Amino acid sequence: ADRAAFIAALPKAELHLHIEGSLEPELMFELARRNGIAIPFATIDDVRAAYAFSNLQDFLDIYYQGMGVLQTEQDFYDLTAAYLARAHADGVRHAEIFFDPQGHTARGIPFATVIGGITRALDDAQAQYDMSSRLIMCFLRHLSEAEAEATLDEARPWLDRIDGVGLDSSEVGHPPAKFQRVFARARDLGLRLVAHAGEEGPPEYVHEALDLLGVDRIDHGNRSLEDEALVARLADDAMCLTVCPLSNLKLCVVDDMTAHPLKTMLDAGLLATVNSDDPSYFGGYVNANYTAVADALDLSRDELVTLARNSFLGAFLDDDAKARHL
Ligand code: HPA
Ligand code: ZN
Repeated sequence: ADRAAFIAALPKAELHLHIEGSLEPELMFELARRNGIAIPFATIDDVRAAYAFSNLQDFLDIYYQGMGVLQTEQDFYDLTAAYLARAHADGVRHAEIFFDPQGHTARGIPFATVIGGITRALDDAQAQYDMSSRLIMCFLRHLSEAEAEATLDEARPWLDRIDGVGLDSSEVGHPPAKFQRVFARARDLGLRLVAHAGEEGPPEYVHEALDLLGVDRIDHGNRSLEDEALVARLADDAMCLTVCPLSNLKLCVVDDMTAHPLKTMLDAGLLATVNSDDPSYFGGYVNANYTAVADALDLSRDELVTLARNSFLGAFLDDDAKARHL
């Protein structure tokens, strides 16, 4: 309880959060009703019971189904506003948010509807909570690079509101190398670059994200620890890893929270951070992630402060803004 209070009081940044993964069952039911969409659940308990995953793909199937209730600009606003209110309550002062436009445009929802609702909520959080944010557009890696390129083209009118691109969805079989050209284009447009790598995929995918995509951060990165030379390189480069403990547990990336690699990462000098990934599906927002992993690994107050500091160091903020938070 003492530790939880300490964590709650730490100012922090969240750097790995899929906005569609913050859709709580209550809002899913409300939007299904509002939009006249059938969902395969009778009760909230049915929904929660369906959230038992044995790997990433199990989760992704339910995640893409869940986002089907999102139809209007107001739906995307309500989704984003609910996350930002919850993050603010957890002491999040800066949030870098992923969205999956291809999960929506494939259902006939216009890009403008998605980004219009999300950015209106981001603007309101800045005004209401003094909470800053960045928006990162992810490409779905199970789709083709040509489809990612078309998505980047669709985003062109919105590039003043998009800070970076990322790579998510089914990792194994879809290595970073598949997206080399679209990431080069995004870089030329001045966007920051991140990619999920080493969640289920091998250390080689982390190497590819660094060497072929030129990413500024690695999302997850757990399996980097299997490669000693890679660990040394990540530490030397102060490469931020956006680690997600409850996600790792729910997707069976770790067998048990006491086996989580976060402490090993810190001991190796890696710039590791703690994040919630898809909090509605994995059972907790950012403070719950800090608490679960800190309890399991008996992390010290110094280590918790380091994790919170790392979140600002790894953020896409300018040096003045970082200094204000540190
Ligand atoms: N991994 C890959 N893709 C995702 C995730 C994740 O944790 N969450 C939403 N899309
Ligand atoms: Zn993720």
